[in-house]
Amino acid sequence: MKVVVGNNEQISKLIAEEFIKVINVKPNCVLGLATGTSPLQVYAELAKANKEGRVTFKDVATFNLDEYIGLEGTHNQSYRYFMNENLFNHIDINKDRTHVLKGTGDYLAYANQYDKLIADFGGIDIQILGIGSDGHIAFNEPGTPFNSLTHVAELAESTIVDNSRLFNDISEVPTKAVTMGLQSIMNARKIVLIATGKNKAKAIYNLLKGPKTEEVPCSILQDHKDCTIYCDEDAYSLVK
Ligand code: GLP
Repeated sequence: MKVVVGNNEQISKLIAEEFIKVINVKPNCVLGLATGTSPLQVYAELAKANKEGRVTFKDVATFNLDEYIGLEGTHNQSYRYFMNENLFNHIDINKDRTHVLKGTGDYLAYANQYDKLIADFGGIDIQILGIGSDGHIAFNEPGTPFNSLTHVAELAESTIVDNSRLFNDISEVPTKAVTMGLQSIMNARKIVLIATGKNKAKAIYNLLKGPKTEEVPCSILQDHKDCTIYCDEDAYSLVK
């Protein structure tokens, strides 16, 4: 794993450039996308580059990591809504080629075919990840098997508390989600992870210095051949 430390603006710009490079080499590439506050500036940089004509998304396909069970795609805390608002509505992408797991209806059937669908598109060329304070990636909480594919997950109490800041009340936070598994994520050819803030410091320490264990889901990334961790000084503070 490579590590890059810089402020949020610097690391977001660097990650956006990694995406742009991949897309410009392979215009019909497959992007793995994440939600959360961490990738927001990366998405803003990509939208800006698209407007400036430095990259086009017209033949790109995307797959998102996860979705809350119980929220329609029109709900303002659903991850489909997040992606439309923060990226897809601002770039020249064909929305039919954007995939987000479903949180309602026959969500299980869609989840069960998700890994095959990704493979049918040729596999993920570049995957962006955030990280939870407990070391989760996507919604793979501590204890998730390393060989997991897309599945239904129970959210850890700490994740419900962390994510409640985005809801009116903690009681509104869904307790379950559908998520790509750890193996699904490892299948990506290239991975970039972004972490900012002191509340990510322990997870980043465990990722970079700790043992590889299912108790720390992100530690599986230690085995990936092309994975770069981008963090700010606060997230990196326990490593030094
Ligand atoms: C959620 C998402 C994760 C994300 C994490 C961190 O739990 N399922 O994919 O990495 O939040 O979010 P944030 O970037 O807002 O700290």
